[in-house]
Amino acid sequence: MEGLFGRFQLLLAPMAGVSDVALRALCLEQGADLAYTEMVSAKGLSYANEKTRHLLALAPGEERVGVQIFGHDPDTMASQAVWIEASLGDALACLDINMGCPARKIVSKGDGSALMKDPDLAVRIVSAVKAAVSCPVTVKMRRGWSEETGESAPSFARRMEQAGADAVCVHGRFATQLYRGVALWETIARVKDAVSIPVIGNGDIASGAAAVRMRDETGCDAVMIARGAQGNPWIFAQAKAALAGMPVPETPSAVERIEMARRHARLLCTHESRAAVRMRKHAMWYVSGLPGAATARGKLNQCSALEDFDRVFDALLDKVDRHAA
Ligand SMILES: Cc1cc2nc3c(=O)[nH]c(=O)nc-3n(C[C@H](O)[C@H](O)[C@H](O)COP(=O)(O)O)c2cc1C
Repeated sequence: MEGLFGRFQLLLAPMAGVSDVALRALCLEQGADLAYTEMVSAKGLSYANEKTRHLLALAPGEERVGVQIFGHDPDTMASQAVWIEASLGDALACLDINMGCPARKIVSKGDGSALMKDPDLAVRIVSAVKAAVSCPVTVKMRRGWSEETGESAPSFARRMEQAGADAVCVHGRFATQLYRGVALWETIARVKDAVSIPVIGNGDIASGAAAVRMRDETGCDAVMIARGAQGNPWIFAQAKAALAGMPVPETPSAVERIEMARRHARLLCTHESRAAVRMRKHAMWYVSGLPGAATARGKLNQCSALEDFDRVFDALLDKVDRHAA
């Protein structure tokens, strides 16, 4: 693990439907040390589902990637971990096991954060995957299942460590909280005290200053950013500078935001089959709050090709120019 979290690192989180090749490429360019794929179904891979396999495609210039898998059957998880390692070779930085997703369709099958309710099964999964591959194996978890069942992350993380996990990532909300309330960073500090493997802190980092605060308050070995990077790859440049005690780069101008959105669209349309649908969401994040954004929203929702996005971006640039004049 020394190679992976030997120095403090900045990570782009797995986000279903969001952490695609384009977002990963742009965040890496801005200073993220490693980006994760969105969660990939072990069962989907085992059916050789092409749509699932496509999620493992590398971004341009992406030399290493973290791959996150989800599921609940130790044998399937292990055999698909082997397949992923064979497919990606040295590009596979680590395999992360999703034990944090609270979505009903995931939890109802016993996957994601449901595994926090069954630590014995979680242990069997980690042991099986760890025995099957040679890359580092990590676990992404929540504070616990629910307020009622209480915070289990520290003891759960210890069990994951004993099962062979090389690092754990902690999002300080209960699964039943979904994204409500605030992420409790004290949980990350308590997990850090409970284990000797690296701990990745996650939850509510929306600025470079917040990344520094999380590192200082929790002692975590890396920070992982999810929503803060939506329409905002610059957060990695800001966090990198802030963590190094350097002046933080200025927030991007309206023109820079539109141009980044344009690049995102181009990258996505080159690499994804359902790029336009995905891009609508990204584009709205990039332009949110800009003059003309409200009108652009409706138009973005109808874009179905790169040229459509370019037309909306051109109109927005005009509006921004006129606003500035
Ligand atoms: C749209 C979206 C999709 C997500 N998909 C995943 C996923 O595939 N796997 C996972 O472990 N977490 C997923 N998450 C959770 C994030 O990785 C992260 O733990 C959570 O958003 C808290 O971090 P943040 O406050 O920086 O957003 C997702 C979050 C969002 C907003």
